[in-house]
Amino acid sequence: MKRVGRLYRLLFCAAAIVIILIIASFFLGKSNLEKDAMIRDAIFPSDFFFGASTSAHQVEGGANNQWTKWEMENAARLAREVGPKSNFGGGKDTVPNWELIKTEAKNNKNYISGIAVDHYHRYPDDLAIAKALGLNAYRFSIEWSRIEPKEGIFDLEEIEHYRQMIRAVRSMRMEPFVGLWHWTEPLWFTEKGGWESKDAPNYFSLYVHKVIEELGNEARFWISVNEIEVYAGSSYMLGLWPPQKRNVFAYNRVNHNLIKAHNLSYQIIKSFNKNAQVGSALSYTYYKAASGISKPFNVLIARLADWHLNHHIRKSIIDYSDFLGLNYYQRCIIKGTKIFYSKEKVPRSDMGWELYPQGILFSLRDLGKYKKPIFITENGLADSQDKYRAWFIRTTLGYVAQAISEGIDVRGYFHWSLLDNFEWDKGFWPQFGLVYVDRQTLKRTIRPSAWEYAKIIQESKNKY
Ligand code: BGC
Repeated sequence: MKRVGRLYRLLFCAAAIVIILIIASFFLGKSNLEKDAMIRDAIFPSDFFFGASTSAHQVEGGANNQWTKWEMENAARLAREVGPKSNFGGGKDTVPNWELIKTEAKNNKNYISGIAVDHYHRYPDDLAIAKALGLNAYRFSIEWSRIEPKEGIFDLEEIEHYRQMIRAVRSMRMEPFVGLWHWTEPLWFTEKGGWESKDAPNYFSLYVHKVIEELGNEARFWISVNEIEVYAGSSYMLGLWPPQKRNVFAYNRVNHNLIKAHNLSYQIIKSFNKNAQVGSALSYTYYKAASGISKPFNVLIARLADWHLNHHIRKSIIDYSDFLGLNYYQRCIIKGTKIFYSKEKVPRSDMGWELYPQGILFSLRDLGKYKKPIFITENGLADSQDKYRAWFIRTTLGYVAQAISEGIDVRGYFHWSLLDNFEWDKGFWPQFGLVYVDRQTLKRTIRPSAWEYAKIIQESKNKY
């Protein structure tokens, strides 16, 4: 009798589990279907830019700047310190794929940019790949240390190199978005105090002046500086990047000088070419206050972080911006004075970053208040197995389309990155590329997710 009772209980439990699974799969399936519908119904303006981004130091190779010097001095330390519990900004145990990355991450060579992916020489082939994917825009940056290797001495051959590059982008019917500074600087500038020096904006503006005098009419879209707040924070407050300072006064000075550098660049570019469109690429993180007993305090800190990191710099440059560049990667949770990634079981990138595509909608709604055109100048993930990238792009673009349908003036999306590249103090192991680059041969292979992006672009064109 007892045995029969147990059997019934067992059968009952099994049936309950099956029913729960059916219901769960129904809901999961539905939410995916909903997301697919979002992108199917998405309407992007016919002149919307579907692009990809890179930055000079991360892809070109052969650089000689403050970062290359730092790499040589710090590669061994970085390889020694990295481990399965490394914190890439997301709290403890944040390396989901340690087994996959450990050989590269523990190798000193990983931290030396060296030849990078040789985009300097291979850009024609790389642009051909971008074209084959159907992209109609490409964001890249000019390396200051190539143009002005010694103070006041400008290298005309290097200027010519970028002239040819801009022209190559245009000849493929893609719109060039040209960056003037993406975190690297000539060594002479570092010796003069780098971005801490009160003369820094002035030095920078002389370089900008020369570039614009030569190339100002070659491109319409110019991006002055990249992520002021991330650079100032990581290099002068957290002590992670060169020159590894931890000093709140230095941090403030650098922020201030980079804001000034942007405003001066705007004026220089506009005085040469009134039709140019000038902006800067700033990061935006969606800060969410953790719930629980400390929620009111968390809300306060989240608002402060939002004000300081998402708005303070934007407000300081808004009068000198034709558009806003938005680099969106993630959401962060604020609990007390701690910032971390959600502990929920959600997809994560190889760097442990929470993949939270809907955050882009909140960011766009918030930035919409500035009443300026918005370009999403970066958005992407480190995903060496290409497991989440297609889903991430599709879902993100669904939310971008939703923002457009709400009246927010979003004019372009640039995926970070076109190519696997050198991810600063992490080196080469994080793979952000739509295109995989073999580290030994530098051979390019288009990832399946890139074809998915191409499909979305094509579907969008078919609707006009
Ligand atoms: C930077 C890129 C970087 C990317 C991924 C952005 O903050 O502009 O240079 O590679 O994030 O970390």
